[in-house]
Amino acid sequence: MLAEASPAKKQRIMGPSHQGNGLGSIQNKENYQKLQIERLQLPIYSARKRLLQEIQKLDTVIVIGETGSGKTTQIPQFLLESGMHRGKTIAITQPRRVAAITVSQRVAEEKKTAVGRLVGYCVRFEDMTSEATKIKYMTDGMLLREAILDPQLKRYSVVILDEAHERTIHTDVLFGVVKDCQKERRKKGIPPLKIIVMSATMDVDHFSRYFNNAPVLYLEGRQFPIQVYYACNPQSDYLFASLVTLFKIHKEAPKGHDILLFLTGQEEIESAVQSIKEISRDKEQEDLTLIVCPLYAALPSQAQLRVFQPTPKGARKVIVSTNIAETSVTIHGIRYVIDCGMVKAKVYNPNSGLDILKVVRVSKAQALQRTGRAGRESPGTCYRLYTESEYESLQTSTVPEILRCNLASVMLQLLALGISDIINFDFMDKPDTESIVSALDQLHLLGAVEKADNIQLTQLGKQMAAFPLDPRMSKTILAAKDYDCLEEVLSVVSLLSVESILVNPARKRAEAMAAQQKFMSSDGDHITLLNIYKSYKGVGGNKQWCQENFINNRNMKTAMDVRKQLREICQRLELPLKSCGQDMTCIRKCMTIGYFMNAAELQATGEFITLSTRKPVSIHPSSALFRCKPAYVIYNELVQTSKCYMRDLCLVDPDWLYAAAPNYFRRKKPANSN
Ligand code: CDP
Ligand code: MG
Repeated sequence: MLAEASPAKKQRIMGPSHQGNGLGSIQNKENYQKLQIERLQLPIYSARKRLLQEIQKLDTVIVIGETGSGKTTQIPQFLLESGMHRGKTIAITQPRRVAAITVSQRVAEEKKTAVGRLVGYCVRFEDMTSEATKIKYMTDGMLLREAILDPQLKRYSVVILDEAHERTIHTDVLFGVVKDCQKERRKKGIPPLKIIVMSATMDVDHFSRYFNNAPVLYLEGRQFPIQVYYACNPQSDYLFASLVTLFKIHKEAPKGHDILLFLTGQEEIESAVQSIKEISRDKEQEDLTLIVCPLYAALPSQAQLRVFQPTPKGARKVIVSTNIAETSVTIHGIRYVIDCGMVKAKVYNPNSGLDILKVVRVSKAQALQRTGRAGRESPGTCYRLYTESEYESLQTSTVPEILRCNLASVMLQLLALGISDIINFDFMDKPDTESIVSALDQLHLLGAVEKADNIQLTQLGKQMAAFPLDPRMSKTILAAKDYDCLEEVLSVVSLLSVESILVNPARKRAEAMAAQQKFMSSDGDHITLLNIYKSYKGVGGNKQWCQENFINNRNMKTAMDVRKQLREICQRLELPLKSCGQDMTCIRKCMTIGYFMNAAELQATGEFITLSTRKPVSIHPSSALFRCKPAYVIYNELVQTSKCYMRDLCLVDPDWLYAAAPNYFRRKKPANSN
């Protein structure tokens, strides 16, 4: 069925200043009125009454509605306006920080307030809320952390678990945590916790059953017909195919019809954006009608917001995005979708207990969501860069992250929540016992848990849980207190926690490399990062210095902010904030203590193999050690593309590895090695 045409909705995400005067305030008023009219026209509005009745009557409700129907922005406002929040805060979780930020900005605008007052957001390393905040958008990971400090989630009257179909590991754990919290509150006579589970599409029965047969509310979607085209033959190079398709559309389609291209990850997207710009520049003149915007989770918030700005008249916007644009953000003007059919996902290797980032095929559910983005505002077109029979062979839905990722981090959080019987935890989909045992084994190797009758966190484990980081990274920080180099390790960890601070524009690659050369350390990427940090601090965080040295100023600033927050946690834990001066060895030792499980050894053949699984790996070309042949390294991450690459490397001594975990290496060492 054809849904009614949507109103003209080219809307700025960041509204005009809220304290404007003169012309500004007239515009504000007009904008406000326009937003109120738009609100009334959203599909969710007609379901308002029923939703409120259901949630009044029962404690849990499931809401299903296509992207753009108004779930995320409106439902919290309905609850607030009807007083159902009982003066407390409404939490709305999002799997991605960009969604939490942009949606809270939009809702603040609709409520005519500044972000951080009535409406706010809270994401890792950034809290934009205050005492006055009643509608709080937050990442699922943040709510999970809050539950550690307050298992009854007392400050909330309603928890909305949004984008439930994404089944991120944090959302899955939250399902169990909020369900338990609801039960506890009921038992103790505390006012009930209302739970709303929201999703674009999902296995409704599975969800309803899990939430004690909660009622399901279906919202009428707004979906126009979409013409789907498949590739005639399987494509060996989807990147190339996507560019060909894109320029074909650009040539033929009317201006103002925007294109959304789904690719897999940051580097691929940046390189595609570069190619698109170069191709459109190739003619005599630059094609000013093509505006290209990348979109991925690690992109700085400011750059992400560009995606949402209206396209100027006579131009066409091309958004090159990861699966972030599948359901979690609303982008106007999209008429064409190009789906490469792939997605970057974490894949767990049960032998090593580590995750590898790998490009894999999307599921049918994902392909449908991607296609759907072309028909939100009018009829659209979707080009699938795979054949119809390839589509037919796709998995029906995406396997929940909890069934395919390393569980160490989440186990640490569950233990910190006081849940020690993890095998019997109320998971919607239970990870297999082997994965749970292997995660606990890792935590044990890191010294975070004790295996007595009951599995318990050690003193060290409790401290590790205080950091919003991977347990290995927290362990590195905690090791630093014994080596008197906490200040340095905090700098390194902060720089590793933000997206790359090195800028490498394709057109000035040689110049960039020459400028960055002076920071490069033969000890590896961590010491290189530290060198950059020290020079940056030396010039007082200077923007011009960043430009001259091809360092991303904004990412540096974010890292400084992250550092400040990690330092505060250290102070709270009363860790000695000392500096090691010029001695870089202790920093590398600390990295080894956290990351001994990620070690690789150079072979006589000149290749590296991991010590955990003896799998061949290579040094990533972006590493400071790319042209070196160190005997032993540890790495922070494995990325599988044409080869399996190690990223963020540190040169280590085999004795340090052994000292960090003698039991582990005794077990791992092959019989024939000495
Ligand atoms: O959650 P759901 O996908 O159902 O919809 P929503 O995020 O609440 O969006 C409802 C409508 O609000 C969209 O169709 C957009 O018109 C508007 N919106 C926006 O303009 N900017 C945002 N950041 C979020 C929503
Ligand atoms: Mg939504």
